Parts: sequence; structure tokens; C-alpha cells
Amino acid sequence: MTFKALLATKEDGKVSVDPVELDELDLMPGDVTIAVDYSTVNYKDGLAITNRREIIQRLPLIPGADLAGMVEASTHPGIEVGDKVVVNCWGLGQTHHGGFAQKARVPGDWVVRLPEPFLTRDAVALGTGGYTAMLSVLALEHGGITPDRGDILVTGASGGAGSVAIALLSKLGYRVIASTGRLEEADYLRALGAADIIDRRTLSEPGAPIAAERWAGAIDTVGSHTLVNVLAQTRYRGVVAAFGMVQGIDLPGSVLPFILRNVTLAGQRAAGGSRRGLDTARPRSGSGQAGPHGAGDRTGRRTGGCQSDPRRQGQGAHRGRCQRVSAGIASCQVVHLNQWRTSCLSHMHCVSSCP
Ligand SMILES: NC(=O)c1ccc[n+]([C@@H]2O[C@H](COP(=O)([O-])OP(=O)(O)OC[C@H]3O[C@@H](n4cnc5c(N)ncnc54)[C@H](OP(=O)(O)O)[C@@H]3O)[C@@H](O)[C@H]2O)c1
Repeated sequence: MTFKALLATKEDGKVSVDPVELDELDLMPGDVTIAVDYSTVNYKDGLAITNRREIIQRLPLIPGADLAGMVEASTHPGIEVGDKVVVNCWGLGQTHHGGFAQKARVPGDWVVRLPEPFLTRDAVALGTGGYTAMLSVLALEHGGITPDRGDILVTGASGGAGSVAIALLSKLGYRVIASTGRLEEADYLRALGAADIIDRRTLSEPGAPIAAERWAGAIDTVGSHTLVNVLAQTRYRGVVAAFGMVQGIDLPGSVLPFILRNVTLAGQRAAGGSRRGLDTARPRSGSGQAGPHGAGDRTGRRTGGCQSDPRRQGQGAHRGRCQRVSAGIASCQVVHLNQWRTSCLSHMHCVSSCP
């Protein structure tokens, strides 16, 4: 049976993406076939499609780092036809056909079954960025950072991952400082839960190797000088979770924050998850509640009450996150349930910001 897809090809050194009709035989190996409901335009997809970085490692390839839909067929243990699932990152859109198609076939280990009350649309609205933001929150918690330890800085604040990080941290009771280059977005960032806003230019230039302590922890999506300055201003025994490189992939700093202040730099990667996350979430999910802390935050508020700002729909980094790439629905299969990832998703439900 044929299905519609967007296919990236390369001609004269330039990548172009065109709508095509493919056959199931064109899909790559995998033990789970998914009828895709939604995909997103991830940061990496943007880099790939605009030829700004060689993200796609084999061509032709269907881009799209995220997908969510219904399992149509599976030989993967524990996966059942009809389940709603999401796949974030792994090799999608880089080495393996991704989400910009009505159908996908992937290894079952990549697939996460969506817990109630998640819809496939919710899952892709959060996307890899939102998912990695939650991993970063878990990393801060794992490092012993609690709201009473002090402020948490989020860089790239008005971006996809940064926005989700702010909302999550705020709902968990942290006081969040948002670093942004778009000060005109201050109202939006405050609506997400930021208590303070700083201009990202105060962090983006080369700075001192160690400086006055300002925050107990940080979630950094920017890298380069920004990450170095963030580390230099992190308090004793602070934790910085880092996963982005929008300023650069370099890290032009010193070891002083580590050896003088016991600062931890905790790298995060969406693909593959980690035992650390699994171990962190499991005991909490035993409460019968949805997320690491249940469906509510530590103060007992329901995280489902998080606000989304309708003005953001179709804007900024979230622009692509709600685009329905294919209307096909389908069948399904489920996947090997990864408790940690599932808990992580439940916890993030509050920030499903797309209509
Ligand atoms: N490791 C992983 O598994 C993983 C997973 C997800 C994402 N990522 C990475 O995380 C980063 C952010 O992803 P995203 O989806 O949030 O992207 P995004 O939606 O495009 O947001 C990036 C934000 O960074 C800020 N920014 C842009 N250029 C900048 C510069 N030159 N210097 C400082 N700040 C700048 C902007 O926020 P302001 O206007 O508010 O400053 C922008 O909105 C990307 O590098 C992405 O590849 C990695």
C-alpha cells in the first residue's frame, strides 16, 4: 500500500525535500510499523532542510526527528496493535526514515507507548526538545537541586526546549531565570513561569573563568561561551544540564567551576535515554500517579493546569511543532514500555501547548 511522504534528496551538493508517494517496501527495517498522526519540525530538521549542517547521514531519506501515531503491526514483544506511541529522535531523520510521512517502521526499542491522557498530538507538541527538557529537570533533581537551593537559569528561553523547561521547573516550584535574546517575549516567558528575565548578551561573550555565584542550577540549550559563563556563575555544588549548541559546539572555558565549586555539568541526549532516568522515575511511578511526582507538582497543584499561550501558536520555535504532517491514522502496535520515558512524558503533559 502506498503512502505520502516528504523525501530529502541531494543534487549538486544541495538538499531538497519534495512530496512523494512511497510503498511500504521503501520503509527501513524495524519490528514496529506505525501509522503516523503527527510530526514536528525539530531544530535538527531545520538545520538539515536548510543545508546548514549535514544532519542527514544517508540520502534519500524522510526527515522528521519526532513522530507519533498508532501501531499498525509489530513483532516486538509487548507491543500491541492499536496503541498510541511516540518516537523521539534516535536515528529518525538522520540515519532512518523519520516522521514526515504517513507511515514509519522503526525498531521497537525506540518506541514509547503513550500513557493516558496523552494524545499523539500532545506528544509531538512536546517533541524531542520538550522531552530533553524533562530529562534535564530529572538531571537537576538527580544532582540534588531542589527549589530551596536557589534560582535555576534556562538559556534559549523562548525556544522550544527552553519554553518547556521553564514551564516544568516553575510548576515544580523552582524560581526560574530566563535568558533570552528576545526581550519582547518577556510576557510570554513570565506566563510560562519565569520569575526573572535576563538578556542573553550578558552571557554570550567570553567571560571570567569563575564569577559571582548566581544560580543553583541551569538548563542550557546554547553551548559555547554561554555555557562557559553559566558554569562560571553556578553556585557551589550546583548542576548544569546541557544539551544544545545554538551558539556553538565549542566549550571555551576552564575547569575552575568544577574544581573550586564542585559544579556538575550533566550532558543530556534525547536518543537512547539513560539508566539514570529510569532509576530516578521508577520509585516515584510506584505511587500510581502519572509522572515522577505524579500528575501534580510538589505543592499538590495539578500540572495539567499549565497554560499555553495561543499567541504562540504558529510562532517562534513552536511554529512547526503542531503541524500535522499526515492525516493517515492507523493501526498499530505498541512498544516495549520504558517506564522512565513514560513517566517523563506524563510529567510533561502540562505543557502540551499546541491547539
Ligand atoms: N542533545 C539532544 O538530544 C537535544 C535534544 C533536543 C534539542 N537539542 C538541541 O537544543 C538546542 C535548542 O533546541 P530547540 O528545539 O529549543 O531550538 P529552538 O526552538 O530553535 O530554540 C533555540 C533558542 O536558542 C536561542 N538562540 C538562538 N540563537 C542563539 C545564539 N546565537 N546565541 C544564544 N541563544 C540563541 C533562541 O532563544 P532566545 O531568543 O530566547 O534567546 C532560540 O529560540 C538545539 O541546539 C538543539 O539541537 C539537543
